[in-house]
Amino acid sequence: MRLKDKTALITGGTSGIGLATAKLFLREGARVAVTGRDTSRFEAVRAELDKGALILRADAGSVTDMRAVSTEVAEAFGELDIFFANAGIAYGTPLAETDEARYDEIMDIDVKGVFFSMQAVAPILRHGASVILSTSFIIHVGRPGLSLLSAAKAAVRSFARTWSREFLDRKIRVNTISPGFIDTPLIGRHRTPEELQAFRDKAAATVPMGRIGEADDIAAAALFLASDDSRYMLGAELVVDGGMSQI
Ligand SMILES: NC(=O)c1ccc[n+]([C@@H]2O[C@H](COP(=O)([O-])OP(=O)(O)OC[C@H]3O[C@@H](n4cnc5c(N)ncnc54)[C@H](OP(=O)(O)O)[C@@H]3O)[C@@H](O)[C@H]2O)c1
Repeated sequence: MRLKDKTALITGGTSGIGLATAKLFLREGARVAVTGRDTSRFEAVRAELDKGALILRADAGSVTDMRAVSTEVAEAFGELDIFFANAGIAYGTPLAETDEARYDEIMDIDVKGVFFSMQAVAPILRHGASVILSTSFIIHVGRPGLSLLSAAKAAVRSFARTWSREFLDRKIRVNTISPGFIDTPLIGRHRTPEELQAFRDKAAATVPMGRIGEADDIAAAALFLASDDSRYMLGAELVVDGGMSQI
């Protein structure tokens, strides 16, 4: 029970990494709130989270929605011990084929969304809270066709350094997790089932550990950053990618 009596908010907690992390945090004794946009999944998510987790509809890219989330979480939990800014989208944006709408979508959710989510929850973060921002291994490598996603995640990596300074007086720790290829609904969203299997096989062959990751691999890292086990980490990055970007 490493998170006994702690309170946590996870954006994008209705699928993949966020959902696996919500389940783990609940098992470790936390009270958990998750957000997502697609309410048609909420019933299934409620069944998976069962122990009274708060499931809130909110677009992480909307300033208004995130302010409302902060108010609802404050009413339900009081202060927050853990904030995991995990909501994100990902797809390729080859330079020649990418229009302004695609640019805006990635930047609005993956950068602006993290910035204003942090602004919205900052007033309810407890002294000594842990903030975890989701980045990606791709900020360390050059993957053709992924320039916007890489730039967005690099911006979030940068937020963690600056905010760590800005919140020093409240002893709030801001750290990041950079997942590698993780087998979640995200990687299947823009692929046919055949393309997805080919992607999994190809990706696994490039990972030094010989497999793509599971959502639980990232949840375990999030638990470490959320708990006092990481008490001496500040403004840092935990790369959890089977060695992809590291060796
Ligand atoms: N999977 C990977 O290989 C990988 C690698 C590196 C980094 N990451 C990062 O890890 C994070 C989680 O990804 P995942 O693989 O778990 O993806 P996922 O299975 O697609 O889950 C994403 C979650 O975010 C929510 N979400 C997306 N856009 C949102 C928005 N605007 N507002 C609120 N919720 C939103 C989704 O719910 P709704 O659809 O209902 O909104 C869902 O709950 C993302 O930031 C992603 O960039 C993933």
